[in-house]
Amino acid sequence: MAKLSDLYAIQPDGSRWSVPQNFDVNFNWDYDDGRAAMMGLYRKGVEMQWNAETRIDWTQELDEDNPEQLPEQMLPISGMAQYESMSRQEKATVRRHFQGWQISQFMQGEQGALICAAKIVTQVPDADSKFYASTQVIDEARHVESYKRLLEKFKVAYPMTPPLQELLDQVLRDSRWDMTYLGMQVVIEGLALAAFQQIRDHAQNPLAAAVNAYVMQDESRHVAFGRLALRDYYPTLTQKERDEREAFLLEACYLMRDRFDAVEVWKTLGLDPAKCAEHMYDSGFMLQFRSSLFTRIVPIVKDIGLWGETIRKGYEQMGILGYADTDVQALQDADDSIARDFDARRAYVEGVANRAAALQDA
Ligand SMILES: [Fe+2]
Ligand SMILES: [Fe+2]
Repeated sequence: MAKLSDLYAIQPDGSRWSVPQNFDVNFNWDYDDGRAAMMGLYRKGVEMQWNAETRIDWTQELDEDNPEQLPEQMLPISGMAQYESMSRQEKATVRRHFQGWQISQFMQGEQGALICAAKIVTQVPDADSKFYASTQVIDEARHVESYKRLLEKFKVAYPMTPPLQELLDQVLRDSRWDMTYLGMQVVIEGLALAAFQQIRDHAQNPLAAAVNAYVMQDESRHVAFGRLALRDYYPTLTQKERDEREAFLLEACYLMRDRFDAVEVWKTLGLDPAKCAEHMYDSGFMLQFRSSLFTRIVPIVKDIGLWGETIRKGYEQMGILGYADTDVQALQDADDSIARDFDARRAYVEGVANRAAALQDA
């Protein structure tokens, strides 16, 4: 199999990216004051570890024409004249590149999550948060691994898209410990959950759907971690300090709404990037994505207490204030039970295959 580094359609800018850091690493000698909810989440994190090598059946392949076997309307430029006039083969190339670009962003973003989780372990003052974050570190490494293995099957990869890199850069440079949580656990993981969900719920390809279902089962725990940590912390800040966080959240929501337009893909394929991005903005794919995105983010923002004038006015202008009433617990429970359904399906299929093999041997 080709090496991932040989699959890049656009070469990344060098083989490394360094972000300067300026914060204190904190030890904590108080081992006794762990919050019950945080320690419960830590225990869950330990118990729910899984091995990507064995939980996922990597012998499954992707589809030649449509790797994830997604409905055509899930391609954001479907319906566009230039796309519709292409040959079957050309359309297949567009699907492979767009889907591969998305999985590339997942893989690259997961590395960002790995680094943010490790930063939390070193920086956060509370010992119980360090415990939980350590389980997230291994979760994120497993996510990078899973998406890398899936991406190899697309035979194409893309570097981290500039808007995601911008967001991560901002989060990592900030020396306030809560900003890592706010940027990663609330904003980027909310974005990730929305994007993973589209594939988990619409891909007919069992491998692509299963990878996303299993990663989501962990991610919804990570979002719960951010909620627990920040809900206790934000009430202790001044209004001015909370306003700064609200301004960051608003800016991040605009960036996620407007800038994830896959221009790298359209350029690579020789399409007009501006026209494609324009078509994409109003596509059914993006409408669904934005709704899912704000469903994942807005109620968390309210729950952690960043619900001052700044954010409410801003969200009202964006038309997303109504998402605040989403039942987050129900979403998290569904993420967990859907992943278990995938396990059950695999066990069933293997059971049938084993029985058939036994019959043949008899
Ligand atoms: Fe992750
Ligand atoms: Fe995560």
